[in-house]
Amino acid sequence: MQDLKEFIEKNKENFLSDLFELIRIPSVSSKDSHKGDMQKAAHWVQDYLMKQGADNAEVIETEGHRRVYGQKMLDDKLPTVLVYGHYDVQPAEPFDLWKSPPFEPEIREGRIYARGANDDKGQMFMHFKAFDYLIQSGQLNCNVKFMIEGEEEIGSPSLGQFCKDNKERLRADVILVSDTSMLAADNPSITTGLRGLAYMEVEVTGPSHDLHSGLYGGAVDNPVNVLCEMIGKLRDENNKITIPGFYDDVEELSKEEREEMGRAPFDADEFRSHINIPAENGEKGYSTPERTGIRPSLDVNGIWGGYTEKGAKTILPSKANAKISMRLVPHQNSKKVEKLFKDYFESIAPDSVRVKVEFLHGGEGYVAPTNTLAYQAASKAFEETYGVKPIPVRSGGSIPIISLFEEVLGTKSILMGFGLDSDAIHSPNENYALSQFYKGIETIPYFYKYFAELSQK
Ligand code: BES
Ligand code: MN
Ligand code: MN
Repeated sequence: MQDLKEFIEKNKENFLSDLFELIRIPSVSSKDSHKGDMQKAAHWVQDYLMKQGADNAEVIETEGHRRVYGQKMLDDKLPTVLVYGHYDVQPAEPFDLWKSPPFEPEIREGRIYARGANDDKGQMFMHFKAFDYLIQSGQLNCNVKFMIEGEEEIGSPSLGQFCKDNKERLRADVILVSDTSMLAADNPSITTGLRGLAYMEVEVTGPSHDLHSGLYGGAVDNPVNVLCEMIGKLRDENNKITIPGFYDDVEELSKEEREEMGRAPFDADEFRSHINIPAENGEKGYSTPERTGIRPSLDVNGIWGGYTEKGAKTILPSKANAKISMRLVPHQNSKKVEKLFKDYFESIAPDSVRVKVEFLHGGEGYVAPTNTLAYQAASKAFEETYGVKPIPVRSGGSIPIISLFEEVLGTKSILMGFGLDSDAIHSPNENYALSQFYKGIETIPYFYKYFAELSQK
């Protein structure tokens, strides 16, 4: 692939101007106000796939946001790669913390700053250009299918059913995904694990309306106080989750497996300084990479209730709410955890309040084997462009559809992510290093090359 570097060098500017078109469409899937933008983005992806040389690409209606399916079929005898990505992004709020507007991409210090610069528009777009290169240069040696969705950030509510209904169409030898990160720019890694998720919303209700805190305070339970106490009971002093049965299905890794994991470099000072925390903390007995990679966790994502405007208002609020999510590890089941959480949360509520527990969404974790052709092909591809052999790393993030792909389609995924920890995905000033963006476009064609070669053996 001698002309690959030249292809990238010659087209660098075009890549950016095309990607920026997509980034400028504020395709926030969680907000109704962006419905039109979601449609625009889906059609943009469809058009773009056609321009890159797909045989066909279509926008498919769903009950929520549209998904895009496209393909280029060369020959039934060749291996088939299904590329998955998502064009939807997280909300950009709080806007005032962005140095440049989230949907007006800007390059500063070698990085693209914008919502979606990495997650997942930037990473997905690398696949479009790798595909473009392979076709243009006559080197495509796999059938390629693209499934690009617009509902990843809201839990892919209907993609599982779509897979069930389209098994034949989605048939592939491997699913190729760039929606994760790697250890460092000089330390490539392949993601071999994702955590599952169970996302809950709770409401604690006390009196029917806000009360005067002088007339009632001390005699009536305050839902905000109660909610805080209840949340306090969800984890113990060792940061273990106290929900009965929660750890029943948690896979315990062997000493050897943990030692193997421990070989991946981790710099605690850098970890702390990068997010500006004085100290790390988590489940007793586990290292930081273990706490995110192989152990479950529970976090309050948001909490509200009572008076939060300027100045003082003396009330005893009627209600308190929180969004609480649990990251799960392989073998835990999100539906089972939903029930365990609900039962426990209701059991610790005092008689003085009423509680409501709602399950917003969830999904299962994933472990990717390293003894597959796809892993070998990805490993060789990274080695080719980064000059070092990548190491397998379990990520703490979630892409629930990956486990569903395996369950429904019986197809395993290879997670070739090019993001870096410094990319601030989901945060203000999300960014993507240009060097990673171009390296990704360079690495992906090698994956196809090696995957096809290894498949023939
Ligand atoms: N791309 C991320 C997941 C990710 C990022 C995994 C970095 C590993 C490394 C994805 O878009 C995402 O944000 N997933 C959500 C889950 C979803 C159900 C809302 C997450 O992990 O919070
Ligand atoms: Mn993503
Ligand atoms: Mn995301």
